Formats: sequence, structure tokens, C-alpha cells
Amino acid sequence: MHWTKNTAVVGAALLLGAASLTAIAQTAAAQTESKTSAAASSELDWWKNAVLYEIYPRSFQDSNGDGIGDLNGVTQRLDYLKELGVDAIWLSPIYPSPQVDFGYDISDYENIDPQYGTLADFDHLVAEANKRHIRILMDMVMNHTSDKHKWFLESRSSRTNPYRDWYMWHDGKGETATDKGEVPNNWQSDFGHSAWEWDEKTRQYYYHKFYIQQPDLNWNNPKVHEAFKQIIGFWLKRGVGGFRFDAITTLFEDPNLIDDDILRDKNGNTYLNNYGDIALNDTRTNNLPGVHPVMQEMRAYADKFDSNKFPGTRVLIGETYLPNIAELEKQYGPSDHPEFQLPMDTQIGFINKLDVATFRSRLTDAEEHLDDHTPLLVFDNHDNARLDVRYGDGVHNTDIERVISTILFTSRGASLFYYGDEIGMKTTPPTRKEDVKDPVGLTGWPKDKGRDGERTPMQWDAAPNAGFSSASAKPWLPIPPDYTTVNVKAEEAAPDSLFAWYQALIRLKKTNPALAAGPETLLDNENPKVLSWVRQASGNLSVVVSVNFTAEPQSVSLSVPGPGATLKTLLKTPGAPDPVSLQAIQLGPYGVYIGELRP
Ligand code: NOJ
Repeated sequence: MHWTKNTAVVGAALLLGAASLTAIAQTAAAQTESKTSAAASSELDWWKNAVLYEIYPRSFQDSNGDGIGDLNGVTQRLDYLKELGVDAIWLSPIYPSPQVDFGYDISDYENIDPQYGTLADFDHLVAEANKRHIRILMDMVMNHTSDKHKWFLESRSSRTNPYRDWYMWHDGKGETATDKGEVPNNWQSDFGHSAWEWDEKTRQYYYHKFYIQQPDLNWNNPKVHEAFKQIIGFWLKRGVGGFRFDAITTLFEDPNLIDDDILRDKNGNTYLNNYGDIALNDTRTNNLPGVHPVMQEMRAYADKFDSNKFPGTRVLIGETYLPNIAELEKQYGPSDHPEFQLPMDTQIGFINKLDVATFRSRLTDAEEHLDDHTPLLVFDNHDNARLDVRYGDGVHNTDIERVISTILFTSRGASLFYYGDEIGMKTTPPTRKEDVKDPVGLTGWPKDKGRDGERTPMQWDAAPNAGFSSASAKPWLPIPPDYTTVNVKAEEAAPDSLFAWYQALIRLKKTNPALAAGPETLLDNENPKVLSWVRQASGNLSVVVSVNFTAEPQSVSLSVPGPGATLKTLLKTPGAPDPVSLQAIQLGPYGVYIGELRP
């Protein structure tokens, strides 16, 4: 609805010229805002209550029968995403790439990998998405490039090449004219073994936080900053709604190259990680403060960028795995120099255990220690086993996924989920080393089977290849065996499906003023089995939510501050009666209750 208004604004702005657009959009947004108290009601604030959907394009929809998902496939499925209630799609990288890390090794930031389509296909996707009020968000990988990127090819060609200083080159320890010496220090790659790779031609080591084929850029070089602003502008001009910044906390390293500390177990002994390396604490290569000015610069650039293709605020999302809420808070930046609007709060979604006390304290942290900022909740992505493995008990997985999605969509802030979660897709790891596609799985086998298991093709229907690819194609990863029953078509037809639950939650998030913008307070704080909270909008409207973290039925008695009120059920899992009051809420095993209180 708001978008329709803004589409008219864009049309007018195109006639008036791009310069007028921002002012018109702002006026329109301000008018919209004054008509309603819900903070998320304007185009400027669209991201504050947004429903964000991560697509792994390789695995979403193959439109040309080569077994690999592509951009035209995503375009074909936009109506589905609309039906689900998605505001924006984050596409994991679609740029040209040797695909060593399936797109996170980029060889050209201003084009599309032919496997996924063309720039014309991309423009078509953006236009079709915008028609449906869906924004497209790009993955921005600034920590490293592919070793096949022209910058790195130049950089490694000679020590005097102008691009030499775009990457992290260092001499070996004890290096001589004939001996390469030892690696500069003990830093390790997140994907196993030393983070230093010897380059014989120029006789120095280069640093790579991830694969050997992903050399780290040198963010102390101002030319790197300028290059990325140009890239961001390139995509903003094409009408994208923002970016997800990959591995952003790893942009800087300790300039003194001090060794990382060795981790020890409780007996003081060192131990090995999944790759067989001595486990280290990566404090000298992760979360260094240099990232803040960089993000302030990128945010200022994106905020000011004049694009006549995209009407509202461009959102910057951070891949921010951080140890605590204080570190997360820093990612929003100071008010006069903002950084991310939405750094991911992985503290909540990756607890990986249904522990009421931990959820309660982390949700309270997000409410009390992020000032006025908007939390971004996320429970799943292409790097972690899916929800069945991290939260399921093997018996009540779908019920548990209802619990998780309730927390995701009824807590304050923006919600990000991963394709296939809405139908309960399961982790399906390879069973033989020779089938592994993700190199992490090859280095870590058998302890760490890599990330293929959470990247299997989307299960659309019960046809061969699950509707992902034509029947004769060989999908790049095998289709999980449960596709004949766990698929979109079947779940769309079943009123009690997980898909229907997601859709209902998203609708509530978008339409109920308390859920759209109300502050959140945790309730019944001593209860070890049920997590409950209230969202309060102005005008005494409140929504209470209770989720049972156990396989046994529970009853809860809640008290919400404020005047007495009548309770109306908005959504609940089957099996328990409608409560007559807040003092008598019954919950089945892993049951959920969502009710509205009105005076
Ligand atoms: C985080 C991405 O999500 C992951 O898939 C990738 O391998 C690393 N960053 C390196 O880019």
C-alpha cells in the first residue's frame, strides 16, 4: 500500500528529474508517517519492521535446465515471495566468480556470472520485484576478492605494481634470497590451516582469512575504499535496496602481526579444531576497530547516493557474529556517523539450544542495550546447519520450527530467514567425501562435512527434481529425499502447514500495530520452560506471546502492566483451548499462543 503511493512518487520524480526525488520521497514519507504511529509505515523506515528473505541463487530455481539456479528462476518465483509476505530479498553473490566459495570469491564486482544470467536479467528481476514491492539486496564482499580478480592478478605480478598495496603482502620470518622462511605468524584461515600463502613469483606471503583463492584486501589503502564506493554506486544506480556486508568484522588485522592466542581447555591443554589445527582465539584478525570508519564512509555514501530507481532508504546489513551485545551496539555507529541500520544479532538466533533463560536474557539485551536501534533477528543461513539440526529434537521438529519462527517474527525489529525454512527443509549433508562440493567439507571431512547440507535445492513440488530444475537436469546438489511431502505446493494446500504458519505470522507482524513497532518486555521471568513477552503499542493495545520450550504441556499465568483488558486470540498452535484470561494460558508440547489485549 505504501509502496503504491511511492510508485506514484517515483513516476513524478522521473518527470521532475532525479534531484527532486529525495525531497519528494521524504515529503511523502513524512506525510505517511504523520498519519500513523507505526514507525515502520514510511518508505524511509521500511526496513525497521522488514521481512527479509535470503536466497542462495544456485539453489532456488533453475530456469534453463542446467541444474543450477539462476536470476530468471528467482524472477519466476517472485509471486510466491509476495504471497509469503517478503519485503526484500538478499541474494548471496551472483557476480562473476571461479566459484571456489560459490560466489564469495568475486572476480568482477560489476557484472553477473553467466551461470546466473546477465545484467539484463538482473535489471528485469529488479523491475519485476519492485512491481511487487520487493527490494533486491546485494551481497557486498569487501574483505577479499577472488585470486582471479584483475586487482590481484596485477598485485601479484610484481612488487612494484601499482596494485601491490591493495592486498596484504608480507615477508616470511627469516626470509633470505633463497629461503622463503616461515609464515609471518600463526594466524589461521577460518577454513583451516595457515592464513598465509607463499607466492613464488614475488617471493612474499599474502594473507587470506578464508580460502587461499580469496586474498584479503588492504583496507589501509584509500584506493580500496574508493573502488568499493564505485561498486556500491554501480548497484545503487541499478535500483538495489541495499547490501549485506559479508565477513565485515574481518576487514582489519593487527598491524604488528602479533600471534593470535592459543585456546586452552579447562585443564590448560591446547586442542585441535575441526581442521586438525591448534585452536586459536582470532582476536588479532577479527573485530578490530578500523571497520567502524569504513562503514561510516560506506553508509554516508549510500545515504547520499542519488538514484532515481529506488525510492526509500537503502539498508546496510552486517554479517556480524559478535561475542556480546556491547560489541553489536557499536556496529550501529554513533548517531552523527551511523554505520549499519541492521547488523545481524546472531547472539539470539545462534544460541542453538532451546534454553529459556538464555533466550530471555539475550532478547532483553536487544531491547535494553541497543538504544533506539532496530534489532535484526536471524536464525539460519547458508553457512550453518538448518533449524532441524540446531534446534530440533527429531520428534517435534515442525513444532519447534513454529516456536523459532514465532520468536523471529513477533519480536521487535526486522526478521531475516533463509529459503526453505518456511516449509521446514532439513539439513541433508553429503554421505560420501567424493560428493562434497564445499571445500570446507573436504578439509574438515568427516568431522565437518561442509555447508552443502544447508544449500540443497528448494523443494517446490513433488515433480522430479522437486520443481527446482527440469526433470532431465542433474541438480548441482542432490534433492533431499523428503521432497515428495515437504514442498511448497503441498504446504500451500494444507491450512495447518508450517508455510501457513509463517504466512500468518508475517501478516500479523505487518498489520498489528503492537507487533509492528511496540517495545518488547519479557514476562514471567522465573519460568524455566515457557518464554513469554508483551509488545505494547500506544493506545493500550498489547500483544502477548508465549512459547513452550518443552515437549510437555504447560500452563502459564501472566500479568501485564496497565489497565485490565480483554484477551483475543490472534494465532495459536492447535491442541490447547482459547484462554479465558492471561492467567490461564494452556500450551501443548512446543505450543505457541499469541493474543491481543484491548482495554
Ligand atoms: C561469509 C559467507 O556467508 C560465507 O559463505 C563465505 O564463505 C565467507 N563469508 C567468506 O566470504
